[in-house]
Amino acid sequence: MTRLKLAILISGRGSNMEALLQAAEDPGYPAQPVLVASNRPDAKGLETAASAGIATAFVDHKLYGKDREAFERALDAILEEAGTEIIALAGFMRVLTPWFVDKWAGRMINIHPSLLPKYKGLHTHQRAIDAGDAEGGCSVHWVSAGVDDGEVIAQARVPIQPGDTEETLAARVLVEEHKLYPQALAMACQRLLATKPD
Ligand code: GRF
Repeated sequence: MTRLKLAILISGRGSNMEALLQAAEDPGYPAQPVLVASNRPDAKGLETAASAGIATAFVDHKLYGKDREAFERALDAILEEAGTEIIALAGFMRVLTPWFVDKWAGRMINIHPSLLPKYKGLHTHQRAIDAGDAEGGCSVHWVSAGVDDGEVIAQARVPIQPGDTEETLAARVLVEEHKLYPQALAMACQRLLATKPD
C-alpha cells in the first residue's frame, strides 16, 4: 500500500508526536515518518524520536530574529530533502507565514486543544472553564492562513468536571489527543491519497 512520507514538527515534549510514531509502526498505517523537526534545539521530543530510529533535525528560530520566512525557508529545505508529502504539526509553537502555509496547503494538519472554532490561540482549557462550558476537547484541522483556522478533520470531546483546573482538564484532553491525532492523520492521508496523481 502507498504510505505518505510524514514529517512531524514539534517545539517541546512531543507526546502527540510519539502517539503518531507508535501508530505508524503498523505497516498498514497510511503515513511513514521520515523526519521529526523542531524549532528548538533542546526539544525533548527530538530525543524520543531519535530513540525510535527516526531522523531528526532542528532549525533554531532565534537565529533568524524577526525574519519568520527566512526561518521557514531553512525548515522547508530540510522538509523537501526528506521527501515530505504530509506535515503534522504537534505542539509546534511558531505562527506560520502565508508563504509556508500556501506552499503546504492541503498537505499540513495541526492538533489544537479546544473544540474549534472555540478558543483559538493559547490558554484554551482555562478559557473553557471560565466560560462555564460543559465540555472541552481537541481538534485536528487542516492548516490554513488564520491561526488555528482551517477545516476540522476530527474532534474529541471531554466533559468538564466540577473543580477542574487548567491542569486537570489539559491532562484528560491530552489522553484523547493521543487517540484522536493518529486517527485524524490517517483520514487526512486517505483524502490526499484519493486525490494524488500517480
Ligand atoms: C498539545 O496539547 C497540543 O494540542 C498543543 O500543544 C500540546 C503539545 O503537547 N498544540 P505535546 O508536545 O504533543 O506533548
